[in-house]
Amino acid sequence: MLGPTLLTASRSPRIRRLVSDAPGSRRLVQRFVVGETLDDALDAATRLIGDGLSVTLDHLGEDTLDVNRAGATRDTYVALLGRLADCGLAAQAEVSLKLSAVGQALPRDGHGTALENAYAVCAAAYRAGTTVTLDMEDHRTVDSTLAILRELRHDFPSTGAVLQSCLRRTEGDCRDLAGAGSRVRLVKGAYAEPDSVAYPDKADVDLAYVRCLKILMAGDGYPMVASHDPRMIALAGMLAERHGRAPGSYEYQMLHGIRTGEQRRLAAAGERVRVYVPYGADWYGYFMRRLAERPANVGFFLRSLITR
Ligand code: FDA
Repeated sequence: MLGPTLLTASRSPRIRRLVSDAPGSRRLVQRFVVGETLDDALDAATRLIGDGLSVTLDHLGEDTLDVNRAGATRDTYVALLGRLADCGLAAQAEVSLKLSAVGQALPRDGHGTALENAYAVCAAAYRAGTTVTLDMEDHRTVDSTLAILRELRHDFPSTGAVLQSCLRRTEGDCRDLAGAGSRVRLVKGAYAEPDSVAYPDKADVDLAYVRCLKILMAGDGYPMVASHDPRMIALAGMLAERHGRAPGSYEYQMLHGIRTGEQRRLAAAGERVRVYVPYGADWYGYFMRRLAERPANVGFFLRSLITR
């Protein structure tokens, strides 16, 4: 029950203020979020790339209802991509973009605004020599996000998308996106969803992940296996072998601060491993989803408040 409660709390402004102001919050947040500034993000990316990993950078923020803020987020990504190119990091560093941060949730033409802003980010990524992956948010955004993906791929074919195995529709989406040139990051899903659209039991989400992974690995696209689950990681290796996929024709992805030893073990074994690196001041929603995924994190969080 704790997970869904935390996910509901992740959208409450009152709890946001409480958690954000709590003196011990910062310490646990630092495990998942590399810092607030662009320089913090570039330092983390440089360190990880030096360790043989690739990265995807996420400027934290979501659900904006302010068109100026959506434009500012677009500009932040464009600046980030310029710096990645200037620092010579673009070959190993791409960006992850939440469409709700660039306008998708706006009441008037959110879809069009998000498309326009995402297009500018993809163009900046193209100039820098790297790619963009569109994060996936709650189920109400999936049709719009996939439609924007289709538009973007006309001009920027390597734009990637995230699909969530928790959603009942996702096997079909995997089939649609398993073709040549497609980049799909497969995740289990981090949002509270109604049973009508998502599997309520974790065991079913895991089984759906297996089915989706089989579709993507058998296809001609580029699967991005985004999971910390040892069973999914082992299965991806077996499927890669079965389908004659060499390392580099797929990749593993994990979040910053989670199973770092496993990230390095896979990279040392010759696999491509990409770490999702979030930065920025607006860490609350991201942090609460990380707490919800693992109730033990709540214990760490509460202890960090007490032992301060
Ligand atoms: P599972 O939850 O079964 O965890 C397996 C094991 O991993 C756990 O037993 C534990 O050891 C470790 N673990 C997992 N989460 C942890 C945590 N928070 N703290 C500590 N240990 C933890 N979701 C989404 O809806 N939209 C998106 O765009 C993305 N993007 C994304 C990118 C990348 C690169 C990753 C890795 C994940 C996402 N996610 C996401 C999140 C995803 O949906 C999912 O919530 C988490 O990855 C946890 O699921 P696992 O597959 O790791 O399995």
